[in-house]
Amino acid sequence: MCEEPDSPTCGTLVFKPLKLVGRNSRQRQISNNNFMLKLTESKMIVSVTGATGFVGKRLVQRLHADKHQIRVLTRSRSKAQSIFPVKEFPGIVIAEEPEWRNCIEGSTAVVNLAGTPISTRWSPEIKKDIKQSRIRVTSQVVELINNSQDDARPKVLISATAVGYYGTSETRVFDEQSPSGNDYLAEVCREWEEAAIKINDDVRLALIRIGVVLGKDGGALAKMIPIFMMFAGGPLGSGKQWFSWIHLDDLVDLMYEALSNPSYKGVINGTAPNPVRLGEMCEQLGSVLGRPSWLPVPEIALKAVLGEGAAVVLDGQKVVPTKAKELGFPFKYRYIKDALKAIMS
Ligand SMILES: NC(=O)c1ccc[n+]([C@@H]2O[C@H](COP(=O)([O-])OP(=O)(O)OC[C@H]3O[C@@H](n4cnc5c(N)ncnc54)[C@H](OP(=O)(O)O)[C@@H]3O)[C@@H](O)[C@H]2O)c1
Repeated sequence: MCEEPDSPTCGTLVFKPLKLVGRNSRQRQISNNNFMLKLTESKMIVSVTGATGFVGKRLVQRLHADKHQIRVLTRSRSKAQSIFPVKEFPGIVIAEEPEWRNCIEGSTAVVNLAGTPISTRWSPEIKKDIKQSRIRVTSQVVELINNSQDDARPKVLISATAVGYYGTSETRVFDEQSPSGNDYLAEVCREWEEAAIKINDDVRLALIRIGVVLGKDGGALAKMIPIFMMFAGGPLGSGKQWFSWIHLDDLVDLMYEALSNPSYKGVINGTAPNPVRLGEMCEQLGSVLGRPSWLPVPEIALKAVLGEGAAVVLDGQKVVPTKAKELGFPFKYRYIKDALKAIMS
């Protein structure tokens, strides 16, 4: 069962009667009730897979800070408990797979971020796992949402996918309308998305095609910086590859907005408005780190750390966030320099 403080059943918000005194207590009771109703309406119950990861952690922190109820859907309760200690995250629900059903049913929304990390050494087994883990979790989440009772079915599914969908190119520009590529990552993303679009029609689906997420405590940047420092930071590989990035805070804000804004549906590129060539990214990183950009970092060094997974950084694509711009999403970090400065400060 899904254990939730103050809640007799998973997903039920308790409406506590107000104690009121004074002359206009009846009017005040009504207006306070309206206020409470509004408050209750605006508070979401959000189930999150992959919540313990680089992106999920920040999303959970944001939602929890705004008093939304969070249900962490994880493979490991002990890992999740160490990341979200109850003292810092009172009221958070942590559920392993057998309990996911009880958590998803009654949630307002589900955010699906789970999957075996991609920026690693790729063996045939890992490649299989990169694809299968995403399809498996997404299919499970979709099935649990679809099978929820009508009145307890989440209204929204935000499901992660990646800009790898488009394949790689040094010359083309990709937006949400662009076709998919032919390589392995494109295939992973297509099948990952195909699993998500099996969601019932009455559930709003936002598929976020995420670029390289830049943040302090994880992701590709954390792995790149030590290599970069070692080589005093020149471009990685040829430096001409496109690097479609997004600051972690912008990605989390985009997902947060998508949870409650009905206009956010279908495919939305989760990338900053100004992708850069990798050479420029390295130059900016060098200048922010106070390192001149003069020695090219050999591909082999990155591959030694990331294995074939280095492809995520070394073979890029220029992806633009056409949909997010149309929706008027206010990016905080439009330029790589500002994003890197904020991260390194
Ligand atoms: N970070 C990026 O630059 C980037 C770029 C494009 C797309 N994305 C996508 O966005 C999502 C979130 O990214 P992230 O960087 O936060 O990922 P992450 O740090 O690697 O976290 C992913 C989470 O997925 C779960 N997970 C790991 N292996 C799994 C497996 N074999 N089966 C089921 N679940 C597994 C884990 O949660 P539990 O252990 O709690 O189950 C883990 O915390 C991922 O799907 C990723 O592919 C990320």
